[in-house]
Amino acid sequence: MNNRKMRAFMSTLLLATALSAGTARAAESAAPATTTTAPTARPWMDRTLSADARADLLLREMTVEEKKLLVFGYFGSPFKERNYVPPAGIRMGSAGYIPGIDRLGIPAQWQTDAGVGVATQRDSSEPMRERTSLPAGIATVATWNPALARQGGTMIGKEARLSGFNVMLAGGINLVREPRNGRNFEYGTEDPLLAGIMVGAQISGIQSNNIVSTIKHYALNAQETGRFVLSANIDEAGARMSDLLAFEIAMERSNPGSVMCAYNRYNGDYACENDFLLNKVLKGDWGYKGYVMSDWGAVHSTAKAANNGLDQESGYIFDKEMFFGADLLGKALADGSVPMARLDDMNRRILRALFDHGVMDNPVAVEDHKIDYDAHAKITRADAEEGIVLLKNQGDLLPLAAGASRIAVIGGHADKGVMSGGGSSTVFGRGGNPVPGTGPKNFPGPIVYHANPPLAAIQARAGGTVAFDAGTDPVAAAKLAGDSDLAIVFVNQWTGEAMDFALTLPDNQDALVAAVAQANKRTIVVVQSGGPVFMPWLKDVGAVLAAWYPGTAGGEAIARVIYGEVDASGRLPITFPASLDQLPRPKLDGEGLPDGTKFDVSYMEGATVGYKWFDQKGHKPLFPFGYGLSYTDFSYSGLTAAVGSDGTLTLSGSVTNKGARTGKAVPQLYIGPVGGGWEAPKRLAGWQKLELAPGASSRFSVPVDTRLLATFDVAKKEWVVKPGRYKVWLGASVVDLPVTTEVTLKGNRFSAVKSK
Ligand code: GLC
Repeated sequence: MNNRKMRAFMSTLLLATALSAGTARAAESAAPATTTTAPTARPWMDRTLSADARADLLLREMTVEEKKLLVFGYFGSPFKERNYVPPAGIRMGSAGYIPGIDRLGIPAQWQTDAGVGVATQRDSSEPMRERTSLPAGIATVATWNPALARQGGTMIGKEARLSGFNVMLAGGINLVREPRNGRNFEYGTEDPLLAGIMVGAQISGIQSNNIVSTIKHYALNAQETGRFVLSANIDEAGARMSDLLAFEIAMERSNPGSVMCAYNRYNGDYACENDFLLNKVLKGDWGYKGYVMSDWGAVHSTAKAANNGLDQESGYIFDKEMFFGADLLGKALADGSVPMARLDDMNRRILRALFDHGVMDNPVAVEDHKIDYDAHAKITRADAEEGIVLLKNQGDLLPLAAGASRIAVIGGHADKGVMSGGGSSTVFGRGGNPVPGTGPKNFPGPIVYHANPPLAAIQARAGGTVAFDAGTDPVAAAKLAGDSDLAIVFVNQWTGEAMDFALTLPDNQDALVAAVAQANKRTIVVVQSGGPVFMPWLKDVGAVLAAWYPGTAGGEAIARVIYGEVDASGRLPITFPASLDQLPRPKLDGEGLPDGTKFDVSYMEGATVGYKWFDQKGHKPLFPFGYGLSYTDFSYSGLTAAVGSDGTLTLSGSVTNKGARTGKAVPQLYIGPVGGGWEAPKRLAGWQKLELAPGASSRFSVPVDTRLLATFDVAKKEWVVKPGRYKVWLGASVVDLPVTTEVTLKGNRFSAVKSK
């Protein structure tokens, strides 16, 4: 940090420290004198008032210097490359910190990552904060069970609060446009409805702890290569019917206190200074009253960012300047390039969120001794096991029955634990990393495992002998497999933030599986990955499970599915492509460019994302969206489509368990215009997750979000439902839809602008 920046940093820090402690002296700057006395009354603490009214009352009391304090965030951990020492008051090893204002009773904002639990930043100068990890976001979405998503969010939000955090940087919801994206594990799906409902449920759970959750990264942050500089280019209608619709649905259902704007540019302008995204769509059309925080290192200006809708600079040390620091912001206020009214609005939004989500009324404290890890392990296990997708099960090889058999367990460090994804969201598990020293030494590494070994969980159930081979030598592994009754091979594809990854398994694991399968036809493959992978050995193995990154109790979850203690009830939330040629962009844009080189990604597919693209193009994927086998069989019937007097379309259907075991079905409903006209032949219109005993049937109904029947009229900013015949499908995946009907819809137009 050069001298100028150091001076700016020190002046901001000194002021922050003084204001935070309520001992600010009259600032030398031209700003109006600061008030140092605590007000005699705090009417804003009247809980009978609305969050808006409380924010206005408090804002009125704040000095300019205090308002500048609230919009400037520190990184909550040392950052050696920038010789950055965080201010006192942080939670060591955390993502961020905004000092509070004692004089007014405004608490500090302690920010923790992220979507699977309380993460710790690697440069922490104290021991890692070891907490419970949910399975990866993609696993939670693969459960298609909003109740589980909410329950998991509630759990990690509780661990955040008890760890002293009141802001949780969760809610990753970027649509999976690019299967190679290193952060797909944090997001989860290619469909806006599935994303909106599942991530919305998790955000609601988190915020039920009287803390703020974010939703992120707004918007079109769909690959990691060149994430800081690329421009995601897409037509407005395409964005409105895909990525923006996912945010819109999730935000309607969860009211996140904050939206985190993304690193990338969106149609040429950085997302964190993008008037269209922040002012026109988010705050204008959608009427969002919370605050926009930047991603860490995503701010590129003071006036442009502030005036185009950014409300808080996060982790300023990652930015080139302290754009919202006292100096630059003070200058912009003084020269009028940032109106005082805008600074007020920035603060009002932050304060409103703190009131709205119970942060002001429920101060956090570090009480991690109160965390019930055993209860939380059950929650993460329930999530993980319902997210495991059974992709192949030849001859009902699974579930295994306990009994005296010789089982070979091979590879994937299955004797030590289960893999987790890399980057800012990494939760360090209790007991430490059982597989230290693998993956990149620096961020987003190292690879962190959770010490819940599948091997031990299998041994506890097998009843016979279970031998382990590390899988580093295919010949030795094949020998063991050949001498066993069956083999369970764990293959791992680590993915992480700031990187994109090939879909081919690394470390010669394809050869390992091929060798084992050749030695023993009764081979089960358990894939731990952050998204789709290619499987050249698929035809040669007996069974395949997609276990994603299964979290703190992942070994138990995998074993419980393998032994049928629970049905295999995960369904793919993303398409597994058969080859890169099937993708809109077979070559990853920006690959091989020197760091920092700007480039464009043209999302010419618009809203035709994932299965819609495969459907539109007639591509046959390796595994389709919505796919997943159960240990029992389901049939579908009784599909009806009824248009209510208010015009709402309600789809109903029945599902029956035809098998001999209790199972969990995920009947899916799709709809599309007869004769086409949309971005794809069909869209997911709804689903249910139902547990059914053998022979049981269940009838369910789903009201269809009218936006899913519409296209977006940019000129009029309206959703338009074309009158005519629509086909409706019911079945087990986007390509397995045995039951159909048709319905006539009247035309309809409605504004995309929510009434204030
Ligand atoms: C990271 C991520 C973001 C995270 C933040 C704080 O770079 O993009 O998701 O919440 O910085 O760690």
